Amino acid sequence: MRTRTMSAVTAGLLLPLLLLVGCDPEDDTPDPDRFPVLPLPAELEEGRGEFALTGETRMVLSWGEGADAELAREVVERWVGPLREASGLSLPLAGPGEGGGGEAVRIVWKPGIGAGAAVAPGEGLPGVEAERYRLEVTGRGVELEASAPAGLYYGLRTLGQLIPGLGADGGEYAGGGVLSAWSIPAVEIEDTPRFPYRGMHLDVGRHFFGTEFVKRYVDLLASYKMNVFHWHLTEDQGWRIEIARYPRLTEVGSCRAESILEKNFDPYIGDGVPHCGFYTQNEIREVVAYARERFVTVIPEIEMPGHSVAALAAYPELACTPGPFQVHTRWGVTRDIYCPKEETFTFLEGVLTEVMELFPSPYIHIGGDEAPKAAWEESAVAQEVMRREGLADEEELQSWFIRRIESFLNAHGRSLIGWDEILEGGLAPNATVMSWRGEDGGVAAARDGHDVIMTPNGEVYLDHYQGDALQEPLAIGGFSPLEEVYAYEPVPGELSPAEARHVLGAQGNLWTEYITTTQHVEYMVLPRLLALAEVVWSPVGERCWESFARRLPHQLAVLDRAGVNYRIPDVMGLEKDRLTLEETHPVEMFAPVPGGGIRYTLDGTEPGRGSAQYSGDLQVPVTEDGVVVTARAVLPDGREGPFRRARFTLGRLLPPTSLPPTLRAQGLAVEGFEGWFATVDGFESARPLALGGGPGEGVSHVPGIQIPDEAPDTAFGLRFTGYIRVPRPGIYTFHLSSDDGSRLRIGDRVVVDHDGPHAMDARSGQVALHRGWHPLEVRYFQGGGGRGVRLEVEGPGTSRREVPAGWLARVAPGT
Ligand code: ACM
Repeated sequence: MRTRTMSAVTAGLLLPLLLLVGCDPEDDTPDPDRFPVLPLPAELEEGRGEFALTGETRMVLSWGEGADAELAREVVERWVGPLREASGLSLPLAGPGEGGGGEAVRIVWKPGIGAGAAVAPGEGLPGVEAERYRLEVTGRGVELEASAPAGLYYGLRTLGQLIPGLGADGGEYAGGGVLSAWSIPAVEIEDTPRFPYRGMHLDVGRHFFGTEFVKRYVDLLASYKMNVFHWHLTEDQGWRIEIARYPRLTEVGSCRAESILEKNFDPYIGDGVPHCGFYTQNEIREVVAYARERFVTVIPEIEMPGHSVAALAAYPELACTPGPFQVHTRWGVTRDIYCPKEETFTFLEGVLTEVMELFPSPYIHIGGDEAPKAAWEESAVAQEVMRREGLADEEELQSWFIRRIESFLNAHGRSLIGWDEILEGGLAPNATVMSWRGEDGGVAAARDGHDVIMTPNGEVYLDHYQGDALQEPLAIGGFSPLEEVYAYEPVPGELSPAEARHVLGAQGNLWTEYITTTQHVEYMVLPRLLALAEVVWSPVGERCWESFARRLPHQLAVLDRAGVNYRIPDVMGLEKDRLTLEETHPVEMFAPVPGGGIRYTLDGTEPGRGSAQYSGDLQVPVTEDGVVVTARAVLPDGREGPFRRARFTLGRLLPPTSLPPTLRAQGLAVEGFEGWFATVDGFESARPLALGGGPGEGVSHVPGIQIPDEAPDTAFGLRFTGYIRVPRPGIYTFHLSSDDGSRLRIGDRVVVDHDGPHAMDARSGQVALHRGWHPLEVRYFQGGGGRGVRLEVEGPGTSRREVPAGWLARVAPGT
């Protein structure tokens, strides 16, 4: 990104955020108030001045040979209509040669600038070249140029976000902006998405949402340049799409008797309220057409062989056992799945034939996830198919099932997408894999030359909690806060550049077991959808959390104007407890919300509207017991966000201990312990583990915090001991990463407690240290599975890095 100018006011506002880790938004990103464009364009050069839309401004549309003038006109009219309404300006649309000279918004469709020109909407993913656009705003006018209608469409989204108080869709919102009315800041933008597939999923099987809402959902995607809507239409708990050949699918399959109440599985408690709903074929056509006008491809998902109980309730003869089946009222995975018999394929091909008539998408999603094989193991029909086809096991039978469906789809010009379980038993030859159980499925498929879409449940399952569970509505579990979604990288690091080209993009998934209302859907996807939109559109090197957070309030104001619900983001600046050497400590906070209001307390209580208002220069008196700052965003209309809390504690520099040079040897002593531990406190009575090469039984030495080669593949414990010397007095932050538990002690302080079994991740803690040697102990246990331990440090004059070997010492052998 090239950026040149930035107002002094904005630079001042951004400065405190530099202290909150991450990139440097002042150097790296455009002024967020003049250019609140989201997702961030690939290249944006800020200009001076602005172009004002007035009663005289004309829109002039021109096109080159091969362009579809009518389509171009439609794309522009759909955008300029709301702008006319909002501004009261006439903004007449003229054709080529009709505009005359002078000031204008000039829109040019020049087919053939890039590949993939003139791809009609909806007929395929347009591809990034067709989505590319160039936008230039000067004091004399606006020029937007693209080689295909998708590019024009995205250029207009960007233009909408540049007009203060306007959203991507050309509609108005209150309060944005730093320019005069209907002005566009001077700028030069060259923009292309990073990925051709930028998706959002919605599960309407668990809870049904009508077409009005589905269109709103599509609007949201389109406003932030997402281009795929993955519509999860069939489930154990409901079949939601009318199929003329099989009317019982909706007559029977679209209603369940009730839903499980919260998480009352055992004993089961239901809510006693029937839940029903489906889309008629006309409604489906309406949504598909609506999405097509917004350059969103709708990919339908028809689940098979699992998650199909609603269909089995309607047509029990498709199962391996006689039934009867009820549309499920509780969530989970079930053993009742389609049986691989001929009538099942006749049925599925009939369903897919109608689905293909309704959805022009190049891809049809067939599910493939979570299909237990017990029913097939016990079924004479399934076993006979395995014998006939020479299949070794039920995994291969599933693979055969999916291949057969793929052949059918391919014969009709469509491609198959499946969840990563379709890798098991062998991947269908042309399948695209949706990697959801982490990234492994995506990596395996890409290495095998298959296209993949990354939707790992750890990062982009938007049904997961996005904050402190005690402050959030009931969710299925997990934890994927806004910052983590923003930090998600869709291309796994282990892929070669050639393999990485198979990563078409990423998608956020919203499963709706615990999401019953449209407001709740919006709450779960927003603002995380905006973070994901930037992940899949913007160049990875330009991504900057602080910049995103500064542009976010503008977009939340747009959502407010449109009556869209969202989770009010957490206050930034209270992510971690802090140690300080000063008796008054500056607390820097930022609320990425319209109005930017923050209320806080210093006594540990929850802040409300009546609490102190943060004005940007809070100096907190700090004690050795610590002072707790609790803060939340409060919007101008009184809505309150979740609160966050951090403790600020006055540190006293720990005095060093003497360690004469004659007693020092390099590295740390390490003792091993045999056995399986659930905590690092379990070593005391454990048997020593021989690590070899050491001075005594179970004792060895290592250059730093690392697992000795002699450690077994299974469970064990380690205790590293020695001394650490810091080069300067001050506050040091230690980051201890481990799989499983670990604990760092320096002097008499526990600095990082990361105990208990867990996957690899880092935890941090701070300690104030005098210059000189301090006793150090790291305990670590490994319970089997992944393994590793690593200690990093940052402090005065030291940016984050592994603790240098030169900072460590142990007592020399024989002393
Ligand atoms: C899934 O979440 N079962 C794909």
